[in-house]
Amino acid sequence: MFYKDLKPFPEGFLWGASTSAYQVEGAWDEDGKGMSLQDLHEPPAGVTDFKVASDHYHHVEEDVALMAELGLKAYRFSISWSRVVPDGFGEPNEAGLAFYDRLIDALVAHGITPVATMFHFDLPLAVHERGGWANRESIDAFERYARLIFARYGDRVKHWLTINEQNVMVIHPNAMYPAAMGVLPEKRDLYQQSHNMFVASAKATLLLHQMWPDAKIGPAPNITAIYPATCDPADVVAADNWESIRCWNYLDVACFGRYNPIAWAYMVEKGVAPEFAPGDAELLAAAKPDYLGVNYYATATVAAARNDGTDCAPRAGDQQVMLGEEGVYRSATNEHLTATEYGWIIDPVGMRTTLRRVASRYGLPILITENGLGARDELTADGHVHDPYRIDYLRRHFEQAQLALTDGVDLIGYCPWSFMDLVSTHQGYGKRYGFVYVDRGEDDIRSLARIPKDSFAWYRHVIETNGAEL
Ligand code: BG6
Repeated sequence: MFYKDLKPFPEGFLWGASTSAYQVEGAWDEDGKGMSLQDLHEPPAGVTDFKVASDHYHHVEEDVALMAELGLKAYRFSISWSRVVPDGFGEPNEAGLAFYDRLIDALVAHGITPVATMFHFDLPLAVHERGGWANRESIDAFERYARLIFARYGDRVKHWLTINEQNVMVIHPNAMYPAAMGVLPEKRDLYQQSHNMFVASAKATLLLHQMWPDAKIGPAPNITAIYPATCDPADVVAADNWESIRCWNYLDVACFGRYNPIAWAYMVEKGVAPEFAPGDAELLAAAKPDYLGVNYYATATVAAARNDGTDCAPRAGDQQVMLGEEGVYRSATNEHLTATEYGWIIDPVGMRTTLRRVASRYGLPILITENGLGARDELTADGHVHDPYRIDYLRRHFEQAQLALTDGVDLIGYCPWSFMDLVSTHQGYGKRYGFVYVDRGEDDIRSLARIPKDSFAWYRHVIETNGAEL
C-alpha cells in the first residue's frame, strides 16, 4: 500500500537497544554466580567462550552512561537466573541481585526504561542436571525465581519479557545446549520442555499481574513471515505449515491459551505432542500477555516437501537458517533478497509483513526486541569504526517499521540487537552487532575500551528527532 502521509513515530516511542546476560556480562564465576549451560560452551579454536564476554559486569555504570549519551529510551537486558539463584532452585545470591540493582538504578537515573528478560538461553546448570525444562520441578523453580526478581525489581521494572526465543530452543536446540554436551535432546523431549516453558511463563505472567498490576509482561519469540517459493498452492500450504509450526504456535499459546491447531496436528503426527498435567490447560488460558516482544532478523522462503529423503538440507543451521524437514517443507532460495556475510537474509519489507501478521492475529502492542546486522567491524587507524552497512540496514528497517505503524500496527518500540558488541551465540566476538565497539578479540581480551561506532552517532540523531530523520 502507498500512503500520502506516513504516521510519525508516536510520542514516547521506546527507541532502545538489547543485550543478553551471558553474551555481555562476563564474570561467569564471580560473586557467587552459579554455572549456566552457556558456561560449558567450548567453542572451536580461535573463537571465544562466554567467560569474559564484554565484561559488562565490571563496566556497568560506564555502559549505562553510554546508553544515556546515545539517548536510549529503553534498554532490554536479561537477568541471569544462575547469578541471582546460583543453583536455580534454592537460596538467592545477594551479590548477584545487587548487580541488577546497580544496573536498573543507573537506567532509571538516566530516564531509560528497563525492559528485563527473565530467561535468555542460560539455564542454570543445576536445573539442567535435574532434568532441565523437561522436569516439571523447573516450572516451580522458575516461579520462585520470578517471585524473587519481581519482588526485588518490580518497583522500577515495569516491562518484563518471559522467555527469549522459546521457538528457537525447540527448532535449533544448539542455541541453548552447547555442542560440548554431545547429543541433543530428542524432538519429543524438546516439545515437552517447551510445554513446561509455556506453563512456567503463564505462572510468571499471572504472578506479575498479581504483584504489580501496573507492570506489563509478554513473550519474546523469534518471528518471521514465511514466504512460499511460488504461487503453487502446494508451496503456499508448506509455507503456512511452517509459519504455524515455527512461529504462530508460540504466540497462540501465549495469547490464546491453546496450541495452534496446525502445529498440534504436526506434533501428533510426529509423535512429539507434549503431555499436559492437570491444570495446565486452565493456567495457559488464564494468563494473558500485555504486549509481544518480536525478535526479527530475516524472512524465510519454503517450498512443498517432496518426501523423498531430500527435503532436509544436510548443512549446519542456526536460528535464521531454515533446514527443511522431511515431508513438511523444503528450504528455497528467494532471488529477490540478498544475505549478510553470515548468510542471514536481509529483508526490511519482510519485517513490515511480519509485524502486520502479528498485529492482525493478536491485536496487542508490539515491541521489536531484536533486529540487527552481524558484521566483522574493524577499528581503523583513525580510531573509529565506520559501519555504514549497519546504518543502511537499520535505516531500511526503521522505514519499514514506520510503514507498519502507518498500516495500523501498534508498535511501541524498537530495540536493535545490540547495544554493544557481545559474543554471538555461535560465532564468537568476530560477528559484531553493537552501536558500541568493544576492544577485544576472540582470545585476546585487550583493553575492553568502549568506542562508539558511526552507527552510534546516526542512531542518536534518529532518537533525537523521534525518527523524523532516519
Ligand atoms: C537471537 C538471539 O536469536 O539472535 C541472540 O536471541 C543472538 O541471543 C542473536 O545473539 C544474533 O544471533 P547470533 O547467532 O549472530 O549471535
